[in-house]
Amino acid sequence: MTAPEKKANSAPEYWDEKADFFASDERRRRIRRLADLYETSCWRYIEPVLPSKETGIVLEAGCGTGRWVYHLAPLGYRLDLLDFSGEMIRHAEAKVTRQGLDESVRGYHVQDLCDMSALPDNGYDLVLSLGMPLSLCDDPEQAAAEIFRITKPGGWVICDAMNRYRTALDMARKNNMTQLFNALNQGKVVAESGLTHHCFSPDELELLFLGQGFASCQLAAITPFFDVPPLKDQVALLDDDTLFNQVANLFQAVSEDPGVIGVSSRLLIVTQKPEAL
Ligand SMILES: C[S@@+](CC[C@H](N)C(=O)[O-])C[C@H]1O[C@@H](n2cnc3c(N)ncnc32)[C@H](O)[C@@H]1O
Repeated sequence: MTAPEKKANSAPEYWDEKADFFASDERRRRIRRLADLYETSCWRYIEPVLPSKETGIVLEAGCGTGRWVYHLAPLGYRLDLLDFSGEMIRHAEAKVTRQGLDESVRGYHVQDLCDMSALPDNGYDLVLSLGMPLSLCDDPEQAAAEIFRITKPGGWVICDAMNRYRTALDMARKNNMTQLFNALNQGKVVAESGLTHHCFSPDELELLFLGQGFASCQLAAITPFFDVPPLKDQVALLDDDTLFNQVANLFQAVSEDPGVIGVSSRLLIVTQKPEAL
């Protein structure tokens, strides 16, 4: 097996090229109801920490073509959208307009998660960085520092990231010993895309945020037994309504079990910036 050609994560060109696909119905068709399962699982953690609609501002960071804006704007929330891919932002803006949600979006920012200098200190009541931008950026520690800076005291942050142990397990299943060692020893693998994926143990993810000054963290397993990226056959199983509901209920029941978190492909973290520093 030849190793994938390594690309610099800091180059947004990779994501610019993916933007048409992300915006297409084809993507939604390919991941089918896994997207619903993912969103339902995340929503359980987002809903309890939503700010006041009147005064609150939400940031979707690493937004791609937008995901949560289409849930939150219709409910009356105001948001900013940020991604380092100009093409992703262009698609997000076009879709927001098509859906008649322009009034809910305060600003679009083409910026790196590791340098959100266009955004003010203490500006956001809720920062959502989902779809694993933290695993995809160059420097997760710098990204966590930036997320801390822009979050209001008392504001909430929800991010997801790849799990180091599950990544190692997936590499073992593929007989890819080099990547298995990379995951376990360095917490980094080079994906088939050529991008480096940062992966974390649950404790490391928690420490990443605690180290910046965030308060205690809640960890959860999101779509824990599905691969990233998902396998076609796994995704097809969810077409069956009964099975979909059973899986959704079961995943919900086990999402905070430490054993399940330990092997979950996606780790979700919910944390809060202390009120008084
Ligand atoms: C898998 S997509 C997820 C998009 C969206 N959040 C979602 O849930 O559908 C990852 C996104 O992260 C963005 N991204 C990756 N690294 C980034 C960085 N360093 N700064 C800002 N955005 C980044 C990519 O451009 C891409 O749009």
